[in-house]
Amino acid sequence: MSTSILAAVQMAPRDPILGVTEAFVADQNPNKVNLGVGVYCDDDGKVPLLECVRLAERQRVEAAPPHSYLPIDGLQSYDRAVMELVFGAQLAKSGRIITVQALGGTGGLKIGADFLKRLNPDAQVWISDPSWENHRALFENAGFIVNSYPYYQPRTRGLDFDGMLAALEGLSAGSIVVLHACCHNPTGVDLSREQWQPVLEVAKRRELVPFLDLAYQGFGDGIDADGYAVRLFAESYSPIFVSSSFSKSFSLYGERVGAFSLLAGSADEAARALSQIKRLVRTNYSNPPTHGGQIVATVLATPALRAQWERELGAMRDRIKAMRKALVEKIRARAPGVDFGFILGQRGMFSYTGLTKAQVERLRKEYSVYAIETGRICVAALNSKNIDYAADAIAKVASS
Ligand code: LMR
Repeated sequence: MSTSILAAVQMAPRDPILGVTEAFVADQNPNKVNLGVGVYCDDDGKVPLLECVRLAERQRVEAAPPHSYLPIDGLQSYDRAVMELVFGAQLAKSGRIITVQALGGTGGLKIGADFLKRLNPDAQVWISDPSWENHRALFENAGFIVNSYPYYQPRTRGLDFDGMLAALEGLSAGSIVVLHACCHNPTGVDLSREQWQPVLEVAKRRELVPFLDLAYQGFGDGIDADGYAVRLFAESYSPIFVSSSFSKSFSLYGERVGAFSLLAGSADEAARALSQIKRLVRTNYSNPPTHGGQIVATVLATPALRAQWERELGAMRDRIKAMRKALVEKIRARAPGVDFGFILGQRGMFSYTGLTKAQVERLRKEYSVYAIETGRICVAALNSKNIDYAADAIAKVASS
């Protein structure tokens, strides 16, 4: 009797983030709250359809375009718009940047990881401790050894900046350093503008390869302000790898609209790199899907729609900040000994709460409030209807 090639396949563990959503969906409790996955919801608990997106989609449907293939590196107007948004209009003119439409920010990371593996197969990757749950797995999957550098300091609930710098200083030339350009996922703890400069200097001195992950541009302080780190690096160093995403900033999660960008030393280097990256894409998924990229390109190129987008993005950013404030006050009112004030200084949609794994489990089992095992919550999933219930639950598990 022959044995199936599948006979020895082991059951994989649930994804640490998307697995939480699976468990949430199966929960029958009508009061359940999902603070797990990083998805922005409006005050009605819904993923918003931005007005700028609705208008651009209507235009597109009315134009009824045929569904042909995009070029391997994506829609050219989209790539150009991303380049300007991420690097600024001035640098985008240099001819040294290439941008390739990718399947979300994750897809952008994967393109960069695969390309780096071909360029320097022996290099190792360094991610922050902690980092986005998928960073390690993604780079390991591309064949790299993945290490971490100190980042979050639980005692101060802030940044271990000295530890981070010292670790980077000890790396060998060519080491790939993944940096969260803004709105650090999972902690919400960012570097200040002053702190980015010494990081850049270490990168130059040690000849490191920075890979900036920019998945939340506009969710911290604004579009340009959140692009600060990328632009600072790009002004005086290369190569620089960047992955970026419109999942959150355009609320286009399922359309998988992201990009991979690379700043090379010269236009010629950039052209050769692009030719190789196109081969990677072609043998992986051939070319990207049209819809999301077309919507983003239309919005960014149409002044009225772009202004509408910036207003809507600003409103999302402000609502998250309001939820941070409300959560701190509500927890303080319910459990005066529990101070969550530190989450006011964190940026973006996430907060590292300091809740332990056991407390996160209690939240889920006793209250159907879902968080990531590490204590990360998505503040952007709180709203005026669920915040009292969530604050109650958090206050109870944090104070007992
Ligand atoms: C998250 O961290 O929750 C988001 O980036 C969604 C994801 O793909 O993990």
